[in-house]
Amino acid sequence: MNFTRFPRRPYLNGPTPIEAMPALSRALDSKVNLYIKRDDLLPGAAGGNKTRKLEFCIADALEKGADTIITCGAVQSNHCRLTAAWSAKEGLNCHLILEERVEGSYKKEASGNNFLFELLDVKSIDVVSCGSDMMAEMTKKAEALSAQGKTPYIIPGGASNAIGALGYAACAEETMNQLNTLGLAIEHIVVPSGSAGTHAGMVVGMTGMNTNIPVSGVNVSRTKDVQEEIVYTLAQELAAKLGIKAGVDRKDFVCFDQYVGPGYSIPTDSMVEAVKLFAKTEAILLDPVYSGKAAAGLIDLVRKGHFPEGSNVLFLHTGGSPALFAYLDTFRA
Ligand SMILES: Cc1ncc(COP(=O)(O)O)c(C=O)c1O
Repeated sequence: MNFTRFPRRPYLNGPTPIEAMPALSRALDSKVNLYIKRDDLLPGAAGGNKTRKLEFCIADALEKGADTIITCGAVQSNHCRLTAAWSAKEGLNCHLILEERVEGSYKKEASGNNFLFELLDVKSIDVVSCGSDMMAEMTKKAEALSAQGKTPYIIPGGASNAIGALGYAACAEETMNQLNTLGLAIEHIVVPSGSAGTHAGMVVGMTGMNTNIPVSGVNVSRTKDVQEEIVYTLAQELAAKLGIKAGVDRKDFVCFDQYVGPGYSIPTDSMVEAVKLFAKTEAILLDPVYSGKAAAGLIDLVRKGHFPEGSNVLFLHTGGSPALFAYLDTFRA
């Protein structure tokens, strides 16, 4: 795959590590060999997956002459934190539209990512109610800023358009290069599936390289059918952008929705167990909303014998640990 055709800012600092998790495999009494790709260690304030997408989105914004970035997310959005971080570093103003997906969940004084928005010098935060048309809200903001003489650029939620998803097709290539160098045959990759760019990018990248390694997504909000279609639609756009002639195959888009629980960002017992288990066995910090629920899925699939004994399974850690500090009561309860 040729990524040099697209504007890209150099935010990465080499490949993120791939590590074995023998203590976790032992704690699960499992003969599956678990590995982890540490995208939680990506550069950008407090790490996480959005840095890969923002390399492409912010480069596009700069190429278009933008001086201001507008984006959106949930009240503890990691994507908003990282967009604010890279905007600060690039000397761009950043404005956020936050969706209160759980009524009453926005607290101006909240900790976690919310506190970091402030430190990272976000210029404005508009909070809108659940189900708002986020693109319409961002467009309204862009019009107001344009009227003040600014040149705004809108990055969609999660940077999950075909531009942002390039970052995860590139991650697939990075991962495959590492596996080839290590001589490590991975049979299955598990990723969190939210706004879909990570999942779509990984499948497109793996398909584009003919790796034959399945990538499964663990949902954080939607039902299986709805999420699979969203990921597939984005993947088709991305494959076209990358010029992958054979395109992508619908059957390669598989999501698990059993680990969402009562809804987006609402804690589940299996998420709490996963976060605690990763911390005490591998000293790896997950997050309550994305990587924690995805890890709960991974753990359950291992326990259920979904992966054959002796197989090598790679979990993509997409970051998010700052949100832990907004959930202290959940973990201490
Ligand atoms: C920590 C973390 N992991 C995973 C995801 C999901 O990635 P995507 O939105 O690309 O599906 C997000 C999205 O915001 C996230 O913040």
